Amino acid sequence: MLLSPATKTPVIPMTLPNGPKTPPFVQVIQWIGEPLTYMDKCAKQYGDIFTAQVTKEEPWVIVNHPQAMQELFNSNAFHAPGRPNNILKPMLGERSLVLLSGERHKRERQLLMPPFHGERMRNYGQLMCDIATDVASKWSVDRPFVVHSAMQEVTMRVILQAVFGLYDGPRLQELRPRLASVVNMTNSPLRSSMLFLKWLQQDWGPWSPWGRMKQRQRKLDALIYAEIEERKLQPDANRTDVLSLMMAARDENGQPMTDEELRDELMTLLFAGHETTATALAWAFYWIHSLPSVRQKLLQELDSLGENPDPMEIFRLPYLSAVCQETLRIYPVAIVMLEREVLTPVELMGHQLEPGTVVVGSIYLTHRREDLYPEPLQFKPERFLERQFSPYEYLPFGGGSRRCLGLALGQLEMKLVLATILRDFDLVLAEKKPVQAKRRGLALGPAGGVRMALRGRRTPQQKREPVASGV
Ligand code: HEM
Repeated sequence: MLLSPATKTPVIPMTLPNGPKTPPFVQVIQWIGEPLTYMDKCAKQYGDIFTAQVTKEEPWVIVNHPQAMQELFNSNAFHAPGRPNNILKPMLGERSLVLLSGERHKRERQLLMPPFHGERMRNYGQLMCDIATDVASKWSVDRPFVVHSAMQEVTMRVILQAVFGLYDGPRLQELRPRLASVVNMTNSPLRSSMLFLKWLQQDWGPWSPWGRMKQRQRKLDALIYAEIEERKLQPDANRTDVLSLMMAARDENGQPMTDEELRDELMTLLFAGHETTATALAWAFYWIHSLPSVRQKLLQELDSLGENPDPMEIFRLPYLSAVCQETLRIYPVAIVMLEREVLTPVELMGHQLEPGTVVVGSIYLTHRREDLYPEPLQFKPERFLERQFSPYEYLPFGGGSRRCLGLALGQLEMKLVLATILRDFDLVLAEKKPVQAKRRGLALGPAGGVRMALRGRRTPQQKREPVASGV
């Protein structure tokens, strides 16, 4: 008899919502290689709810209606188990927050949450602006660069300082390229297959992709453990970075987190927070520079602040906020949320679902709904100035018990990095054709990373004069 993994109660045979009839292995290939085309076709044919066979395990019931999102976030009939996120175990480790469920997950979130609160974020504002300026200062006129790589450098430096509390020094210098090499191991659909297809996860030494990945991971771990060891030997009660707070925390039995737990949570935060924000920034640069009217409006708003504005003033700018929101609407970095599972029999969008059913909210399809976002393929920041969207209609950071822990950090970083660079650096796209979205691991990013070129520094006079459209 089939038992629900969550409740250990018998699962009643049921009929799942309709979905593609193509063989599961074909669906898996489509999902890895062309996830957007796959989802668009399914939504066109089956509507708000459909069943997809995109993993080798249970089928996914994919939903894209705000009403379904509301249920997923608020109803006790659903929970957000950690087990299905096992796909991330090889990278993050088995003690990672995303692999925990129920009470343990809730407790761990409470432990990790305080440093990510909006108030705390203020401390990181100036740091973000300084790092952005430093990275952009290395660009030279007429030597095109890939903006995604530049943004990876920015976001990694931010997270290493905020989360690890690592400031310039030999360990930071070594950690940065090692971390990038692990993250980049899954930066194409082909390489991403390693995560989805277990049979590719064979360590045959440095000649096999998985072996290479494991080797890089071991070197990275050695650095992380060395940092933890050093902190234990030289405790500093004044430090406010996430690693220090985690090391000071005690569970109900007065026990500290083990080195392995600390390592897994650090990897989780680095992994979840670095690539996501870099990708979002790369898309933002792309849209702003492919649409002259958007760039013009944005520069006008940024220039109106005068010299040396306070980071929080930048954060509150309405048009900048709308540009960031629209960037995460049109191509959300995470196309789907983490898996949810039915705990008790429930009706969802007219379908009776039984315990054990896996339900996945499609952020991408919800953001492309014509009834919510007219002309959904057009990049139009104005829609966020004209209308307020509910957390079930606009959800680039997911929601409910697994809502993104780094929401405040990610939003602040996007705005401050964009504002700092756009105010001072005159950039143009070096792409001839429209940039397409491509899978990068579990996320979706711009193919090729968006090539751009520097035209020069913006002068004080340029900042005072209204920016001409089309420039
Ligand atoms: C633009 C940037 C980002 C986007 C679009 C994004 C998006 C997401 C999404 C969609 C989820 C899943 C939510 C769900 O299933 O309901 C998530 C989870 C998560 N995110 Fe982010 N994220 C971003 C930045 C960050 C940053 C900066 C951090 C931390 C430093 C972070 C840490 C996490 C963690 C730890 C989780 C798992 C939460 C849990 O399991 O309880 N994210 N994120």
